[in-house]
Amino acid sequence: MPEAPLLADLIVHHRATPGALLPLLHAVQDAFGHIPSEAVPAIAEALNLSRAEVHGVITYYHHFRQWPAGRHVVQVCQAESCQACGSRALTAAAERIFGCALGQTRADGAVTLEAVYCLGLCAQSPAVQVDERLHARVSEAKLARIAQQLGVQEVAA
Ligand code: FES
Repeated sequence: MPEAPLLADLIVHHRATPGALLPLLHAVQDAFGHIPSEAVPAIAEALNLSRAEVHGVITYYHHFRQWPAGRHVVQVCQAESCQACGSRALTAAAERIFGCALGQTRADGAVTLEAVYCLGLCAQSPAVQVDERLHARVSEAKLARIAQQLGVQEVAA
């Protein structure tokens, strides 16, 4: 794995912290954009866990990605307040506008569409995060404008 020295640094930095697994996984994803499968054995060994335990945590939390994301990551909040304010319909619109299903990356690699569970903008639901930027009270029209700003062409049905 070409990123092995960086992974080793992250492990050294986090391994002594109580409850190191989650902070370490966050650091690995921040560094690589996802958790490479090759990183799992090294993390497991360093933290004295089984590979299955590490894998279980990675797959349990929606935040963690096992594969590289597209050039842009669009996260549509699926938590309670946003659902009450129409996030299901907004998710369907996002799938159409960005041309991929929730949890998938568009064929051209432009966008990964993900679920997220509360962005802390509940009073201004429904909320969306695009890359590092939060968007409140997102309508279908606003989502289409965001797609335009990202230079993402709608995929013909
Ligand atoms: S429920 Fe969507 S931002 Fe909190």
